Amino acid sequence: MYDIAIIGAGAAGLTAAIFARRTAPDARIVLLDGAPKIGAKILIAGGGRCNVTHDVVTSDDFNGNRNAIAKVLRTFTVAQTVAWFEELGVTLKREETGKLFPTTDRARTVLDALLGGCEGVEIRTGHKVVSCQPERSEGPGRAAHDASASRPTRPGPSLTLGMTDGSTVHTRRVILATGGRSIPKTGSDGSGYALARSLGHTVGKVFPALVPLVLEAGHWMTSLSGTSLDAELSVRATSGRVHVRHRGSMLFTHFGLSGPVVLDISRDWIATRGLLFANFLPGETFESLENTLVRESQRNPRATIASVLRGRVPERLLNAIVGEPLPLAKITKDERRRIVRAFVETPIPVVRDRGFDFAEVTADGVPLTEIDLATMASRRCDGLYLCGEILDVDGRIGGYNFQWAWASGRLAGTSAARLLD
Ligand code: FDA
Repeated sequence: MYDIAIIGAGAAGLTAAIFARRTAPDARIVLLDGAPKIGAKILIAGGGRCNVTHDVVTSDDFNGNRNAIAKVLRTFTVAQTVAWFEELGVTLKREETGKLFPTTDRARTVLDALLGGCEGVEIRTGHKVVSCQPERSEGPGRAAHDASASRPTRPGPSLTLGMTDGSTVHTRRVILATGGRSIPKTGSDGSGYALARSLGHTVGKVFPALVPLVLEAGHWMTSLSGTSLDAELSVRATSGRVHVRHRGSMLFTHFGLSGPVVLDISRDWIATRGLLFANFLPGETFESLENTLVRESQRNPRATIASVLRGRVPERLLNAIVGEPLPLAKITKDERRRIVRAFVETPIPVVRDRGFDFAEVTADGVPLTEIDLATMASRRCDGLYLCGEILDVDGRIGGYNFQWAWASGRLAGTSAARLLD
C-alpha cells in the first residue's frame, strides 16, 4: 500500500513527487510512467534548452478559465519557481524575450535536477496505468491491503491502479499528471483522459494547440521554405471581425507555416475555423503603405516597390509578391493596391493543422470547475488530485505551459501529502 501514487512523470508529476516527499518525508510515494525513459518532453522542450518559465506570467497568457488559473499560479510565483530551481541546482537566465532558460542551455540539466529532487520516491517506468478503481469506503482501517505492512492502517480513501503488465498498485491517494495528447511518442498519448473519465470527470473535446499550420501543396508560400520574418497574424470571422491578433517570428516551411507567432495563433484558427491573414509589415496599414508608395513614386519616378521596401521584408518574399520590379510610376493604381494588400493583408488559406504529432500542447481537457483549486483535489473522486496539461489549461509560447505544470504539480503534491492524515 502506497500513500501516494503519481501517474505520469512529466513536468507536473515530477514536481508533485518532489513536493509530496518534502511535505511528508515518511510517506510511501511511487511515481509511475508508461514511457521506458521519463522526461522526453522536458528534453525536447525549447529546442533542447527547456524554456523553464517566463519572467512575467499572468493568467492572460493562458486559455481556459483565467480566474481559476490565476488562483493556482498565485500559489507558486515565478520568483518562487526560480528559487526552487536554484535549490535543485539549476540556475536560470533571462533572455531578451523574457524567457528563462537554464544557464547551461541544456534541458538535461533541468531533468536531472528534477530527478535528483525525487530522491526517496520510488520510480517505476515502462508500464502504463490502464485503470484506477476507488475502493468502497468502509471506515477506519480499510486501507490495509497489505496485512504484512508495518505501517499503521489509516482511514480515508484508497484506490487500486491496474498496470499494463497485469500488476496492481494500491494507494491512498492518486495524483493524475498524465499530460495531454501532444507528441504521443513521448508517452503522453491521452490515456489519462480515460482514467479521469472512469473516476467521474468529464473531458472536453481536446485539440492540438501551438501547432504548425499546413497549406495546400504547391502554394506559393511553401516555395519560401526556410525564410522567416517578423509578422502580424490575425484570425477573422467571415464578417471581417478580428477574433485575435498575434505578432512575432513566422517561418515558411515546405508544408506551410511555423514559428512562434504561427504556433500561438494556431489554437484560435482551429477553435474558430476563421480566416487567417498576415501582415508582413507589422505596424503598417493598407493606407500607410499606400501613402508611402505614392509619396515615393512622386519623389523618385524610378523608385520600385522593391527599392522602397528592401530591407524591411526578406528578399525572397519581396520578389514573390512584387514579381517584375517595375517603377512605381508605371504600375496602375489597381495593381499597386493589390500589391499593398498582399503585404499587409494577405489571406492565408490554411488547409489543416499538423495534428498532435507536432503540437506542443493540448487544448481543452478536464474542466477546472471539477477541481478544488485550493488543493488540486478532484471534486468527483475522493483521494484523487489532478495537475498539469491534463486540465483545461493551455498557455502561449514562452515558458507558460511549464509554469502551469510546476505550479499545479506543486500544489497537488503538497496537498495530497498534507491531507494524508
Ligand atoms: P507531460 O506530457 O509532460 O507528462 C505526462 C507524462 O505522463 C508522460 O511522461 C507520459 O509518459 C505519462 N503518461 C501518460 N499516460 C500515462 C499512463 N496511462 N500511465 C502512465 N504514465 C502515463 N512548455 C514550456 O513552457 N516551455 C517550453 O520550452 C516548451 N517546449 C515544448 C516543446 C515541445 C516539442 C513540446 C511537445 C512541448 C513543449 N512545451 C513547452 C509544453 C510542455 O512540455 C508541456 O506543457 C508540459 O510538459 C506538460 O507537463 P505534464 O507533466 O502535464 O505532461
